[in-house]
Amino acid sequence: MIFNNQILFVCCLIFSLTVKTSTAANQVDQLWFSNVGYNGYYDIVEHVAGNEECECYIMDEYHYFEGANAPLNEPLSVHFRGPLSLHKFAFYTSDAFYADTGSSDSSSQSTTSSQISQQSTQLGSQQNSQQNAQPNQKRSSQQSSSWTRAAYYDHSDSSSASNVTFMNRKGDTSKCLGNALSYADSTGLKKATNSTILEENNSIASDEEFIIFSSVSCPNSSVYDTCGVYREGIPAYEGFYGDVKMFLFEFEAPTESQTNSSSFESYDMPAIWLLNSQIPRQSQYPTNSNCSCWASGCGEFDIFEVINGTTTGEFYSTFHTYQGVDSVEEGLTQSAYFKRETNGTMIGGVVFDSDGNTISFMTDSLSFDETISASSLLKILQGNEDDEAMTTLTSVSATYTATSITGTTSSFKNEVANLFTNKLSTIASFFIVLFNIL
Ligand SMILES: *[C@@H]1O[C@H](CO)[C@@H](O)[C@H](O)[C@H]1NC(C)=O
Ligand SMILES: *[C@@H]1O[C@H](CO)[C@@H](O)[C@H](O)[C@H]1NC(C)=O
Ligand SMILES: *[C@@H]1O[C@H](CO)[C@@H](O)[C@H](O)[C@H]1NC(C)=O
Ligand SMILES: *[C@@H]1O[C@H](CO)[C@@H](O)[C@H](O)[C@H]1NC(C)=O
Ligand SMILES: *[C@@H]1O[C@H](CO)[C@@H](O)[C@H](O)[C@H]1NC(C)=O
Ligand SMILES: *[C@@H]1O[C@H](CO)[C@@H](O)[C@H](O)[C@H]1NC(C)=O
Ligand SMILES: *[C@@H]1O[C@H](CO)[C@@H](O)[C@H](O)[C@H]1NC(C)=O
Ligand SMILES: *[C@@H]1O[C@H](CO)[C@@H](O)[C@H](O)[C@H]1NC(C)=O
Repeated sequence: MIFNNQILFVCCLIFSLTVKTSTAANQVDQLWFSNVGYNGYYDIVEHVAGNEECECYIMDEYHYFEGANAPLNEPLSVHFRGPLSLHKFAFYTSDAFYADTGSSDSSSQSTTSSQISQQSTQLGSQQNSQQNAQPNQKRSSQQSSSWTRAAYYDHSDSSSASNVTFMNRKGDTSKCLGNALSYADSTGLKKATNSTILEENNSIASDEEFIIFSSVSCPNSSVYDTCGVYREGIPAYEGFYGDVKMFLFEFEAPTESQTNSSSFESYDMPAIWLLNSQIPRQSQYPTNSNCSCWASGCGEFDIFEVINGTTTGEFYSTFHTYQGVDSVEEGLTQSAYFKRETNGTMIGGVVFDSDGNTISFMTDSLSFDETISASSLLKILQGNEDDEAMTTLTSVSATYTATSITGTTSSFKNEVANLFTNKLSTIASFFIVLFNIL
């Protein structure tokens, strides 16, 4: 993704610039990000079209988000780049899960958090104190509930697939929007006319990508409906919902067998990552940043990503949001990494917990059962503590109310912004859609 010229409004109060990073060893089994989620907003894409000339418009109003894991608490699509072969995928939700049960070396970290809370209190912002009220608060494991599988794929049994739609970008070409989404065929490499389950011995090479959405169809494209506005003519499916959620993968990432050349964009750089699912439905790689919500920070999290051609044996995890970073493109990467096994199967995933902890991890074994108890997941996470790196994200709270509303000129639009923010959408949105057409 290639935009770095988008600067969010200057109305962000940064309460602490402390980013605590401990990197005992560079190669780890677990990358822990705490204090994830903030109050902020991103552009609402109102129109996505254009072939040579981009016809992409954003609204004057913003989409606001808040709370633990925000904006990655919004529905997400799951992306794969080769060389890679997917064995298993599973998506889980939980009513509540607290990854930090206060074991081992997190005592110095709790000092950092209480400092952050104190500073916030001094500044007296209600908005801030409501977000991430107690980051890193220790919880008893009894407070966590189990995980329920809500989507599944197992390469050795296609009949067990549920709630998954495999897509790629083999649809219409557009200079402005890139290729459109299409159903992927069973190889993941070509376009299909309908939803097709990936075949057993699937394998995609460098630069090839496929995407998993849920099998829930999107309503019609509209800024006021659950999928937002999306590109015309695509098969549109919802991303995976949940404030508290987990994605698990069993996969291979063998060394690329073709020879490197300048025709590759990402030679031997496999990756698994999550996007706010509006992005691929709008345009994943547009030439104009107005064509998706990515540049304004609707969210990306890279779980396992080879970042460049010199470190092809290393998987990094990165947040591409505006939480404590000015450049969404650069994002926030931990300097520690996972080892990419090129001759074996890897099992791992990412957990977004109730307190704003995002933990990507690898493990030796984990069965992707219909239910995973809180204690078995905690056991895996705690088992990785000796090989873990941790970063605390900066607390950020955008004081958007005044700025965005006084920033608009039309009083009608001001009212619209209020209504939209208050989510009184049904009647209001009908009104606004008319207004926008006129
Ligand atoms: C994006 O859209 C806004 C409003 O619709 C417009 O003011 C701005 O110039 C557009 N930016 C680009 C790069 O097209
Ligand atoms: C669905 O797509 C597959 C792969 O393109 C094709 O073989 C099959 O005939 C299609 N089925 C229907 C009902 O269109
Ligand atoms: C997939 O590969 C394995 C190992 O090479 C082989 O045993 C199996 O038959 C293959 N499955 C299919 C559907 O081709
Ligand atoms: C969705 O769009 C189609 C095609 O424009 C239209 O026929 C249909 O009535 C729309 N559905 C709703 C619920 O608005
Ligand atoms: C499929 O995933 C969607 C998106 O997360 C969710 O709303 C839906 O409940 C899931 N369906 C099942 C059967 O779990
Ligand atoms: C490749 O990525 C690694 C890890 O982030 C970084 O240390 C290194 O400087 C990068 N190399 C190049 C050539 O960008
Ligand atoms: C592949 O070639 C490109 C230059 O075309 C280079 O930047 C990249 O590091 C190479 N990748 C590997 C894995 O050698
Ligand atoms: C797989 O890779 C590891 C280290 O990367 C090596 O120790 C092992 O011998 C390899 N196994 C095979 C079968 O090549």
